Amino acid sequence: MANIFLVGTHWGDEGKGKIVDVLSQEASGCVRFQGGHNAGHTLVIDGVTTILHLIPSGILRDKCLSIIGNGVVISLEALQHELQDLIDKGITIDEKLYISESCHVILPTHIALDQEKEKSLGKKSIGTTGRGIGPTYEDKIARRGIRLSDFFDESNLKDKIKKLMDYHNFLLKNYYNSNEISVDDTLYNLLNIFNEVKKYICDVTPMILDVSKQSNVIFEGAQGTMLDIDHGTYPYVTSSNTTFSGLISGTGIGADKVDYSLGITKAYTTRVGHGPFPTELTNQLGLDIAKWGGEVGATTGRSRRCGWLDCKILKQSIELNRINGIALTKLDVLDNLEKIKICIDYGPIDYKTFQVEDIEYIELDGWKTSTVGINNFDNLPENARKYIKTIEDISSTPIVMISTGPSRDQIIKIRDIFK
Ligand code: GDP
Ligand code: IMO
Ligand code: MG
Repeated sequence: MANIFLVGTHWGDEGKGKIVDVLSQEASGCVRFQGGHNAGHTLVIDGVTTILHLIPSGILRDKCLSIIGNGVVISLEALQHELQDLIDKGITIDEKLYISESCHVILPTHIALDQEKEKSLGKKSIGTTGRGIGPTYEDKIARRGIRLSDFFDESNLKDKIKKLMDYHNFLLKNYYNSNEISVDDTLYNLLNIFNEVKKYICDVTPMILDVSKQSNVIFEGAQGTMLDIDHGTYPYVTSSNTTFSGLISGTGIGADKVDYSLGITKAYTTRVGHGPFPTELTNQLGLDIAKWGGEVGATTGRSRRCGWLDCKILKQSIELNRINGIALTKLDVLDNLEKIKICIDYGPIDYKTFQVEDIEYIELDGWKTSTVGINNFDNLPENARKYIKTIEDISSTPIVMISTGPSRDQIIKIRDIFK
């Protein structure tokens, strides 16, 4: 039995959803602890694609509890849509989904403020998902946010939302020269949805503690290490701690309850949104990799920037998250390449130009043959095995799973990490 922390090692979209889906077959619980519906986790099962934004990726398994911890920010509208999508697919939700009453709620004014701020930043914008994530965490830290628990006391909620939205509307009108949003309409809409979903809302911390003592639990990170508010490429980051500390604060469990940290690393690196990206390929090859890898944002539909695997960042992620093993994803995307580079080091990032000095690569021969769907390590072409071994050597960390396609069954399991 083991509790596994699963984290993206770069800027998100490493294939976390797929790996959680694979592992959840053996888990009794899957827990989200930070972020919100800025995340987009893609699961492909028997040719059917499901993209989850808020609900943990274990939800497709009948025997796995899906728990949303206190560190997550919730859009009630997004939750409603996602639940409907799952119900339409015949997925059972009741008795499987639990949401912390301490989660902060995203209001329409948070979304408007996020988008207005981005507009006002012009070329210096972060490239956020525009989902209101940053402003909601701002209000949480400023101790004026609205939590799901507030919805259980309607008259108190009205006062609180009015006070907060008056402040937001003041900013929207006077600072951003934009439109105000109706408090009454917001209350009406949110209360309607709340009444539909309140059966899922409770104090989840004891439940997480309980299930994690008895059986396998997966703690599903969203975003990636380099989007961490403290340790990422600030200010081009998201507004939560995406790394190990976020798991502790976002669930209330102790660090000693986590047995294994699994880093999810894509065989190359991508980034969506703005900010520095030292190994970015701004040439045709970058576009080719994006095409082969289907690198289009699962949340916003934006094209993802692509580049060589950045092992300097991988090593930092391993330290920060105390990573024990790596799941290497999207190996098959590199199948066509003659030569493949791996970045091992560079100097400090210049945040004005996003440039780095002295970038060092090593170059390996490609394998030029399909690895799609290979399930056994020994069946991989020799050069693919060399690529994997090189990453292990550079990072001093074992690669314990290899993903060779988007589907649940396109996976090589080298070690059973629950044991
Ligand atoms: P996440 O945010 O980390 O869960 O990743 P996303 O779902 O946003 O993006 C990963 C994309 O790659 C999705 O479209 C997945 O279906 C796809 N994917 C995951 N693993 C593999 C793989 O091994 N090979 C290929 N070709 N696609 C993969
Ligand atoms: P998953 O979980 C990739 C990026 C945005 C932007 C920055 C801040 O699917 O890996 P935000 O809306 O969070 O304030 O945007 O963070 N970003 C992601 N990039 N994958 C994600 O999630 C992301 N969630 C946020 O593009 O650069
Ligand atoms: Mg994603």
